[in-house]
Amino acid sequence: MEIDVPQWLSLALRWFHLMLGIMWIGASFYFVWLDLSLRPAKDKKDRDAGVSGEVWAVHGGGFYHKKKYLVAPEGMPDDLHWFKWEAYLTFISGFFLLCLMYYWQADLYLIDNAKYAFTPAQATFTGLAFLLGGWLFYDELCKSALGENVKVFSVIWALALTAAAYFLTQIFTGRGAFIHVGAMIGTAMTANVFAVIIPNQKKVVAALLRGDKPDAKYGKIAKQRSMHNNYMTLPVLLIMISNHYPVLYAGAYNWAILAALGLSSWPFRHYFNLKDRGITDYRFMTAGLAGFALTICAASGLFAAPKPVAAVAAATPAEIRQIVRTHCSGCHSDTPTHDSVTEAPKGVAFDTMEQIRQYAPRIIEQAVKADTMPLGNETGMTDAERAKLGAGLAAVK
Ligand code: HEC
Repeated sequence: MEIDVPQWLSLALRWFHLMLGIMWIGASFYFVWLDLSLRPAKDKKDRDAGVSGEVWAVHGGGFYHKKKYLVAPEGMPDDLHWFKWEAYLTFISGFFLLCLMYYWQADLYLIDNAKYAFTPAQATFTGLAFLLGGWLFYDELCKSALGENVKVFSVIWALALTAAAYFLTQIFTGRGAFIHVGAMIGTAMTANVFAVIIPNQKKVVAALLRGDKPDAKYGKIAKQRSMHNNYMTLPVLLIMISNHYPVLYAGAYNWAILAALGLSSWPFRHYFNLKDRGITDYRFMTAGLAGFALTICAASGLFAAPKPVAAVAAATPAEIRQIVRTHCSGCHSDTPTHDSVTEAPKGVAFDTMEQIRQYAPRIIEQAVKADTMPLGNETGMTDAERAKLGAGLAAVK
């Protein structure tokens, strides 16, 4: 018996990461909704006690009456909930997952020798430098005068992330680059909670306990970061699922597609934030949808001049077997020979013509329309071979 440790570890981490992420984002969306849904307190007693707003809700058979105190409630409850571990554990599990998938298996998932021949250690160091650098840049930007102006701030941060996406896609595999942009945003979001939001809330609570009036600036700074996190959620979620979609990460303009989709998610989030406040403005919803539609059209080549298609000789079945043996079978076989692979990845093996025929559409997706496979193009598969394989597979279907 042999336990496939990386597989089980990756499953456990991913499951945990997903669960914690849902808890974090769920709580964060819920509190944004709560804050924007507050209406002035009806009861004079509440108003006199410092309740600035209240909201009624029904859920799971019970009625909930929530009140927001701007100044201190009369006594600080002992069991005040902070909602911070969801964020920290999402980051920690995500970080271990990143290490397991992209650093430990850097030669498979992160390094693309045709782009830059990193050693695994260099690639890891470069990746980590982006995570740290992203946070330092973001944090300084927030603290600077530019951070005061939401519009200017948003434009600069979006441009910085796009530049990072461009640069990363030039040196790493598409998936490796994407996951690093996502991790940069996720790192900034967690660091916001850890280094800014929670410490500022602690200062406010400490001042209230002393019976002082807390400095309003602490609340303002925490609010700024909390709103940033709210808008960064949708792009980060998109990136976390992007590795299932070569249409996103495999093309030459993958960084632009990422930027365009990230940008289109902004009006969506804004639409829902306005709606929570009782304002329904379909212009934002329409702008988000139009952004997605335009990105899909651009990514599908609708606006590009059609490329002249050179006639390609289709590979014969024997040639198909030969190409697959050279470029795929090291990994995709019941008896893989590649050092880092112990069994056919995702159970996809190409040992027989029958299997090749069965997987033909997915082979075309991964190795003809995109150059995602072979991973990192380790075997140096050429465009001509891809075209020939594609034409051959179309003929044997
Ligand atoms: C270096 C090892 C390696 C080589 C060589 C390789 N693959 Fe893969 N392949 C993988 C791994 C690892 C995965 C699983 C990727 C993941 O976890 O998303 C995979 C996944 C796939 C999938 C399934 C994708 C999905 O998400 O459903 C297909 C199809 C595929 N490869 C086709 C090919 C073809 C065709 C070739 C040869 C042209 C090839 N691969 C060469 C390692 C390799």
